Amino acid sequence: MGSINASVDLRRDGEIAVITADNPPVNALKHEVRAGLAEGLKHAREDTGVKAVVIACAGRTFFAGADITEFGKPPRAPSLHDVIAAIEAMPKPVVAALHGTALGGGFELALACHFRIAVPAARVGLPEVKLGLLPGAGGTQRLPRLVGPEKALEMIVTGEPIGAAEARVGGIIDEIVEGDLTAAAIDFARRVVREGRPLRLVRDRDEKLIGEGFADAAEALTRRLRGRDAPAACIEAVRNAIVLPFDEGLKREAELFGRLVGGDQSKAQRHIFFAEREAAKIPDMPEATRSRPIAQGAVIGAGTMGGGIAMCFANAGIPVTIVETGRDLLQKGLDRVAANYHTSVSRGGLDASEMERRIGLISGVTEFDAIAGADVVVEAVFEEMDVKKRVFADLDRIAKPSALLATNTSTLDVNEIARVTARPQEVAGLHFFSPANVMRLLEIVRGAQTSFEALATAIALGRRLGKVPVTVGVCYGFVGNRMLARRSVETERLLLEGALPQQVDTAVTAFGFPMGPCAMMDLAGLDVGWRIRKGRGEQALIEDALCEAGHYGQKTGKGYFRYEAGSRAPLPDPEIERVILETSSRLGINRRPITEDEIAERMILPMINEGARILDEGIASRPGDIDVIWVYGYGWPVWRGGPMYFADRLGLAHIRDRLAFYADRSRDETLRPAPLLRKLADEGRGFAS
Ligand code: CAA
Repeated sequence: MGSINASVDLRRDGEIAVITADNPPVNALKHEVRAGLAEGLKHAREDTGVKAVVIACAGRTFFAGADITEFGKPPRAPSLHDVIAAIEAMPKPVVAALHGTALGGGFELALACHFRIAVPAARVGLPEVKLGLLPGAGGTQRLPRLVGPEKALEMIVTGEPIGAAEARVGGIIDEIVEGDLTAAAIDFARRVVREGRPLRLVRDRDEKLIGEGFADAAEALTRRLRGRDAPAACIEAVRNAIVLPFDEGLKREAELFGRLVGGDQSKAQRHIFFAEREAAKIPDMPEATRSRPIAQGAVIGAGTMGGGIAMCFANAGIPVTIVETGRDLLQKGLDRVAANYHTSVSRGGLDASEMERRIGLISGVTEFDAIAGADVVVEAVFEEMDVKKRVFADLDRIAKPSALLATNTSTLDVNEIARVTARPQEVAGLHFFSPANVMRLLEIVRGAQTSFEALATAIALGRRLGKVPVTVGVCYGFVGNRMLARRSVETERLLLEGALPQQVDTAVTAFGFPMGPCAMMDLAGLDVGWRIRKGRGEQALIEDALCEAGHYGQKTGKGYFRYEAGSRAPLPDPEIERVILETSSRLGINRRPITEDEIAERMILPMINEGARILDEGIASRPGDIDVIWVYGYGWPVWRGGPMYFADRLGLAHIRDRLAFYADRSRDETLRPAPLLRKLADEGRGFAS
């Protein structure tokens, strides 16, 4: 409890007024905080004994931004703009003391102060674009004045924060301090007073507002927008900083912010922000459940997946041992890992010493006993039940009792795997997506007997590896791939009925996916699914025909598309089209022209239908979990909020009717509206209800 209100405290340290906010967990700038700040600033201004002001935060971070839960509700004064205006009107120096992550409105508040000091680990940034917004409290006008328009544009359009050292070099931070931050900020404020330093506001600095290079940078970014409104608005706002006077730029920023915050894209992105955090919570998990510490990892299998998973551990600073059966296979795997790291260094994404440190954390062995000390073992061997069972029987013999035993299977029954051990409660699935070191999604598969402790450990590990963990139940393909399978069936059907791969892919990329299903299958390799289908006695006529013609995708230079040597650009190819046309004619199908709208509908609605079944069966706990899986694992456009959110926007009654139409037309009962979807549609409700 502070001296001003429950969230804000004001105290005097000699001639320095110290305003401290405390609104756990991230000091979001909710109404009470803003009111407390405004009140504290007023007192400090009126108190003639006060010569300077420090604004600091208690807890783990400086203000991490506006309170996102307040968006869409009626605004309450004072606004963040009012607080910022009070800071700028202060005739005494105001020093912001930054730690943790000063983000969004929090960073914008700091930008309005006369000085900013920070601890070495502090990070600052304007991540609003990730919520489908632009910085709405002057960030688009002040940051370009501090660091120049080009750097500001990069920070605002990517939304990525930067560290204190970089911010110091760029002129954002005046001083980096060690030790007690508030004490250092008070010292700093005293020095400013003593030295009579001039109080120059960022808004009055114009010397860095040089437009050179901006147009090219803006154009390059505009080309990558893919339907998103927010980055375009960010670009416009930063351009305004160069061409308009400060106050006009600010006014225009507010208009753009107002349009975005009320728009569909930002609503969808805010839904994903909260759904992502919700996904880390298990509804029936007792609150007292603790995760176990993880100091050492092991990965079984040095293939592409195993190597990528080992990189995730090393990137998070966790030592990891890769176990492979033969020396040659092991060396090949380790070489692939090293090559991946070297590529990152050559592209400037990693410095050489950091690469050495990470490679140093990965060791390779051929003796299974080496996993005895591991806190988590991730099995990433060939996708065959018998092979996996043999590995788990060995793990059960050798791994320490508290180890989390995880399988990276993408289809197999985790319960059946767990049953070969005497400790099924320690077994779970950790389904990484390819490339494992890049993709953010981690499906955590909860077996029938997985303990809460093992589950909590898996979730904590996922977060530590920088992943977005979503817990799912056991079924074929779990959530993501099970829904994807519906899209694959429909892709095949569309190709048989009259569409060509480029038409299907165009409809899907126009919807906002980075890649269409055909290009995606070419990237993954058509032969993988072909082998699985053969094992299950299933068929996919066109894909099987392509595989039989030796077209496995990018790796053979041909799949659904043709690829020139060294290029990943999919090109239509007459020979491939001939295979497709011949398959249709062999089946006696009269091909017909298919519209882009029909393709888009048939790519999306059957997946939603499967999502409804997944929810009904309890394989996913919440519709938001499914949305998060699709956004982070499959490139669903975040501004459309995920398939289940999208379905609610579209209206379930409409979806029910369209699915019924397609089920009748193609005589495919799997397209028939799922019971849950039908029930909700009949009741006029949505999945979110
Ligand atoms: N508003 C409301 N709640 C927020 C919040 C915000 N800005 N930021 C985080 N939270 C909540 C989360 O929902 C979560 O709540 P639960 O515990 O109930 O799930 C809790 O705070 C902790 O968040 P995380 O789990 O994400 O914690 P973390 O330590 O992993 O990450 C963080 C901390 C980096 C600050 C991260 O929460 C984050 O990136 N937050 C969003 C920052 C942001 O986008 N700021 C800009 C807001 S928009 C704005 O400011 C507009 C403007 O220009 C005026």
